[in-house]
Amino acid sequence: MNIMVVGGGGREHAIINKLNKSPKVDKIYALPGNGGIAADAECVSIDAKDLDAIVDFAKKNNIDFAVVAPDDPLVMGCVDRLKEIGVPCFGPDKKAAIIEGSKVFSKNLMKNYNIPTAGYEVFTDASSALEYLETAPIPTVIKADGLALGKGVIIAQTRDEAKEAVLSMMEDKVFGESGNQIVVEEFLTGPEVSVLSFTDGKTVVPMVSSMDHKRALDNDQGLNTGGMGTIAPNPYYTEDIANECMEKIFLPTIDAMNKEGRSFSGCLYFGLMLTDNGPKVIEYNCRFGDPETQVVLPLLESDLLDIMINISNGTLDKAEVKFSSGSACCVVMASDGYPQKYESGFEITMPTDKNIYVAGAKLSEGKLLTAGGRVLGVTETAPTLKEAIDKAYETVKSVNFENAYYRTDIGQRALKGVN
Ligand code: AMP
Ligand code: GLY
Repeated sequence: MNIMVVGGGGREHAIINKLNKSPKVDKIYALPGNGGIAADAECVSIDAKDLDAIVDFAKKNNIDFAVVAPDDPLVMGCVDRLKEIGVPCFGPDKKAAIIEGSKVFSKNLMKNYNIPTAGYEVFTDASSALEYLETAPIPTVIKADGLALGKGVIIAQTRDEAKEAVLSMMEDKVFGESGNQIVVEEFLTGPEVSVLSFTDGKTVVPMVSSMDHKRALDNDQGLNTGGMGTIAPNPYYTEDIANECMEKIFLPTIDAMNKEGRSFSGCLYFGLMLTDNGPKVIEYNCRFGDPETQVVLPLLESDLLDIMINISNGTLDKAEVKFSSGSACCVVMASDGYPQKYESGFEITMPTDKNIYVAGAKLSEGKLLTAGGRVLGVTETAPTLKEAIDKAYETVKSVNFENAYYRTDIGQRALKGVN
């Protein structure tokens, strides 16, 4: 089969790497892919948001199946457009992708269907939000309604910080239209767990759980980033908690989306916080997480393409979804300065026989050069989490590029959760 994967980061590299193991795959195109992905797929320089060009490419290249990985094209309706021309897809349609595309939609969904989440208020103008913040409990969490490159969430430790966040989103429009509405949310505490799940809108099959490390510096200090590393499974996510999440969160969400006429098909990501009052939803994503995918898929023992095709056919109950009982750790190597200013264009040398998922790199005269904030993710799997972490850091030593920066404590907090 000819497969097209829309997207070009570390997550897409991990998806492509797994799809390549399927005997059904003849050829994989990545739109746009990147310099590292080029070793595993044919990269086509089409932007993931250019829906016209994506559809045109699919028409002309006998694409049998498409995987739309990033949030933007999903929320823009890429799957709807591809299905219109008869290309089966993995990913939700536009109506269902709103679960990530609008925080106001997802918060209201959870409220209306009694799915546990942080308490919240929605504001459509800055003055009412500012008035509310005069007396709201602090810390508080301010969220832009729409997509904001993962930067639309501000945890405000003081009233002034909260007000500043409101003004920057609603008056200065730092996230454009995404800040037309905002959610002001109760601040929750507890270990965070990411649960990616396969669903065809009827059956939901959670993948192995994982933990992201969002802050730039060790000990969860520094600015929020797209994710500096992940481990799986997440030791805080016990079998009892998993059962509770299935009953109170996963199935009710699938059911709620069906009742709203927005049946969800694809990967539904549950960002959870395990609070003293039970697990609560922090966010939904309508896609695989990045860099969660880089630890979850290496543990998948079943054929990913087979699962995706079954989901697209509405027969997920017929698919085998099996994960290994081992652990995985992914250490993200970034350009020093990320998530702010950084230099790029440095040559990368790395082993070719390892699970190294390239996020930000380009090929130039046969050389792989850094071309982004997050450059690559080094993943290792092992029977235990401790071994996976040690192996990943060992492999990190064999990757070289100027200005490389990585956290040295990926997985350390999780190790404390191991009984
Ligand atoms: P997001 O960009 O939506 O992934 O959110 C970024 C991070 O903000 C999450 O991973 C949490 O650590 C934090 N966060 C979001 N909502 C809350 C909340 N209600 N209480 C505490 N932390 C939160
Ligand atoms: N790692 C979090 C996300 O993909 O949104």
